[in-house]
Amino acid sequence: MAMWGGRFTEATLSEFRDFNDSLSFDYLLAQQDIAASRAWAKGLLQAGIITDIEAAQLEQGLADLAMAIDADPRLPLQTTEEDIHSWVESQLTAKLGSVAKKLHTGRSRNDLVATDLRLWTRLQAGTVRKSLLAALAALLEFADKAEQAVMPGFTHLQRAQPVLVAHWALAYVEMFKRDLGRLDDAVARMDSCPLGCGALAGTGVNIDRNVLASELGFSHAALNSLDAVSDRDYLVELSASASLCMTHLSRLSEDVIFFCSGEAGFFKLGDAISSGSSLMPQKKNPDVFELLRGKTGRVLGHLVAILHVLKGLPLAYNKDMQEDKQGFFDLMHSWQQSLLVLATVLPHLSVNREQCRKAAELGYSNATDLADYLVSKGMPFRDAHECAGELVLVASKQQLPLEALTLQQMQQISALITDDVYPALTLEAGMARRCALGGTATGQVAAALANAKSWFEQVVAG
Ligand code: ARG
Repeated sequence: MAMWGGRFTEATLSEFRDFNDSLSFDYLLAQQDIAASRAWAKGLLQAGIITDIEAAQLEQGLADLAMAIDADPRLPLQTTEEDIHSWVESQLTAKLGSVAKKLHTGRSRNDLVATDLRLWTRLQAGTVRKSLLAALAALLEFADKAEQAVMPGFTHLQRAQPVLVAHWALAYVEMFKRDLGRLDDAVARMDSCPLGCGALAGTGVNIDRNVLASELGFSHAALNSLDAVSDRDYLVELSASASLCMTHLSRLSEDVIFFCSGEAGFFKLGDAISSGSSLMPQKKNPDVFELLRGKTGRVLGHLVAILHVLKGLPLAYNKDMQEDKQGFFDLMHSWQQSLLVLATVLPHLSVNREQCRKAAELGYSNATDLADYLVSKGMPFRDAHECAGELVLVASKQQLPLEALTLQQMQQISALITDDVYPALTLEAGMARRCALGGTATGQVAAALANAKSWFEQVVAG
């Protein structure tokens, strides 16, 4: 039975009910609704609305309900209640009789749903955080295992300058570090409790809302009732954090897909994380990374959807807000699952060192080193760039690498070039030169890895 039948004389149209009801998805908030109800019952006792005995009965009834949900989270779906709040109350009434009807004194589904969703979000954010840490650990492990492996670095997807594979992995570590910061910021900002704000104007029950807040693990009570029942900022913040984190995951996936292609061949996918083709027997496909890239689109869509739901809403609660849930539930699930999948598959990705090195030496990746060499001989960089470019032209016409040109050929372009150009053009020399902070020189990358590992240990230690 609906919670609001008194002033109605006609039955509800089934088409309206189907459209209006939310139990089919908000049943996921059952434990949170029960937790909020237990805290509210305590508040009612303190306010003198219910007796000790009634409070104990409500507490027992709600504890039993929590256990029943633990055993079967889909239990509410066996009923036709309007939403999870109605379900909890009707279950309690069926069990306890009229005392259960006192539970909704001074509260509204508006402050209740706002509280439930915050509790659920806080819990899920904790799981996302764990998965993000697992992804970070896997990336650090990957960087560690890559040791000195060198591969081409790209700009415009054209070979640019060689980089350590570990340097590439650590770039994503930096992105995920920021993602963790954004997640923690969002969780810290949502730490206020809407319960006790009633439908919109505050509750008539004489209740200490800060005690209520701390009962539910919040640091404080929300300060404005109109805001509290209609604030969904935290959903937007977390959706935006998820979107950015997934975008990083998607870029990583795109890199890996290309690195695993026949054209690049830098990385190899283990059988355990690859799929084949039903038609082409030779195929080994990076489906898992494609799915990670695809899930990103889905998460980004949910961010846009929640922004659109909120943008035109007057204060305070509007039913539009019921549309905040399905997308956000899916977003949190997709985000958490994707991070965990990344953590799981990375150990099955191996680096083909020979192929990486071969590719890093091709494509005139040492042309900048040649220009730098000329600079070291006193030539202004702009002229050195020009000379190195001319030498690339000479070499490419003969389909040779720069270091295969004779000294004579080089000196025709610049008399400043002497024998010591050859050691300057090796891969090692080029890499070693990029030794300023943040660069790909071996020492810098080793230091960056050590720093990232100690940062990680501190974060894990809390
Ligand atoms: N199912 C509703 C939601 O998710 C609960 C709040 C209903 N409040 C109301 N005044 N109709 O938003």
